[in-house]
Amino acid sequence: MRWLGLMVLMVCASPLVATAQTGVNLPPSEPYVPRLGDIMNAAQSRHMKLWFAGKSANWDLAAYELRQLKASLVEAASLYQGIPVTNVTTMAQPVQSVNDAIEAKDGKKFAKAYGELTIGCNGCHQSIGRGFIVMRAPDVSPFSDQQFAPQGKP
Ligand code: HEC
Repeated sequence: MRWLGLMVLMVCASPLVATAQTGVNLPPSEPYVPRLGDIMNAAQSRHMKLWFAGKSANWDLAAYELRQLKASLVEAASLYQGIPVTNVTTMAQPVQSVNDAIEAKDGKKFAKAYGELTIGCNGCHQSIGRGFIVMRAPDVSPFSDQQFAPQGKP
């Protein structure tokens, strides 16, 4: 059941990500296991960047950030068995909606789907005693060293 949930989320995992990650060489005896809070901090960055990319109609970047975000969620659920799998599975639908909006290059749909995705983040936090961690769409980008508008646009 857990793996089924993960598979649902992993559908349309990117070949790009796979390419970028080949060549990683971990000693099998001591695999590095990131702390859940660190995986979530990475998810938070992607969640923010996804928003600014979508708002700037930079659909290539938005697609990339969504893949990265999805990878963080899959990583969290596969490494931390205490996370309720239903909360991972319920993320699949909003992730798919954001994906569809990106493919359609539709800013309005994107904003709506992003809201649903964020409700999913908070749903899991609430169900697992972390209801004080509340996510929302960001205001001002803290990533002033990264350009979110597509190349050639200000
Ligand atoms: C399936 C469950 C689940 C989902 C879905 C989930 N989280 Fe979390 N998240 C957690 C748990 C559990 C913690 C607390 C980790 C801990 O106590 O170390 C957490 C913690 C966090 C934190 C706090 C990290 C810190 O150390 O300050 C942030 C930020 C966060 N999540 C962002 C997100 C975002 C953004 C999403 C949605 C894209 C999301 N989370 C979706 C389970 C989830």
